[in-house]
Amino acid sequence: MTCSTTTVEKKHGDALLMLSLSFRKRIYRGTGTRQCTARHVFFLNSFLKVFLCPAARCQFVMSRLAVVCGGSRGIGRAVSRLLAERGCRLVVVSRNQEAAGATVASLHGADHMALSCDVSKEQEVQKTFQTIQKTCGNICYLVNAAGISRDALLLRAGPEDMLAVLHTNLLGSMLTCRAALRSMLHTQGAAIVNIGSVVGVKGNVGQCVYSASKAGLRGFTRSLAKEVSSRNVRVNLLCPGFIRTDMTAALQEDAVRSVPLGRFGEPEEVAQAVLFLLQSPYITGQELVVDGGLQLLM
Ligand SMILES: NC(=O)c1ccc[n+]([C@@H]2O[C@H](COP(=O)([O-])OP(=O)(O)OC[C@H]3O[C@@H](n4cnc5c(N)ncnc54)[C@H](OP(=O)(O)O)[C@@H]3O)[C@@H](O)[C@H]2O)c1
Repeated sequence: MTCSTTTVEKKHGDALLMLSLSFRKRIYRGTGTRQCTARHVFFLNSFLKVFLCPAARCQFVMSRLAVVCGGSRGIGRAVSRLLAERGCRLVVVSRNQEAAGATVASLHGADHMALSCDVSKEQEVQKTFQTIQKTCGNICYLVNAAGISRDALLLRAGPEDMLAVLHTNLLGSMLTCRAALRSMLHTQGAAIVNIGSVVGVKGNVGQCVYSASKAGLRGFTRSLAKEVSSRNVRVNLLCPGFIRTDMTAALQEDAVRSVPLGRFGEPEEVAQAVLFLLQSPYITGQELVVDGGLQLLM
């Protein structure tokens, strides 16, 4: 996929060339050759490209804007990198501004942006998306990869941890979707991918609250997909299994044995699937499990 869209068709190119030549001739006649510098010709050519040739205009202004919440590390960082490689302009959001900045510095291309925001805090989310709108314009893609886990048996789970997990994983995605939607309604091909989990589909011991937060995202994703389908915004859920990131760093290697494909997934493998959902114009309200077959045995 190329996010920066359309190539200039030949007939547009020919028309552009003719117009450019005839305009240049007039300028030369009107101003005298000595006053018509290379700068004049450059600005004239830019003007002609942007205002007279629709395909070229697309190339000039339509680098798609993608916001990745939780883009500083792990799956979100891999998604940010892949989207930047495909020509998107990225806004990387996480609580730690420095980490988001480091990811932005590693991205292909220019003009990307790092913003600090806790997605579980409504006012921070509102402010962040206002800044994005003002600075970068309308959002085309939103990926909600910000998430935490605080695993414990329910009898041992504290209410603070429960709230932190629900507020980040579930409420956080609701807040960012709500804040981004208004601008996405004006963008062609707009799409959201929420990152759920195979645990939200199958459940797991020691992950009641995490599982509930991800199962909640399933209902939220399907309902939002229904709400905004008439406006051509697509919303899908991607459910990873064990992926090699900070979140799974403490897991014992014997967890690998429960995966039919015999290994943890890499963040880049999840990013490929996210890209597929973002760019598939006829898929909405779906769940895609990316788990090396883990759910077959759960
Ligand atoms: N790794 C797996 O095996 C796995 C499996 C299934 C599902 N998932 C899901 O995939 C998503 C990404 O997980 P990951 O493995 O990539 O985790 P990770 O490596 O720990 O990265 C989490 C990202 O979310 C950000 N974040 C956390 N809380 C935030 C908040 N309140 N506001 C804004 N940003 C926040 C973190 O940055 P800051 O700390 O700077 O805020 C970081 O960028 C999560 O939703 C996770 O539940 C992961």
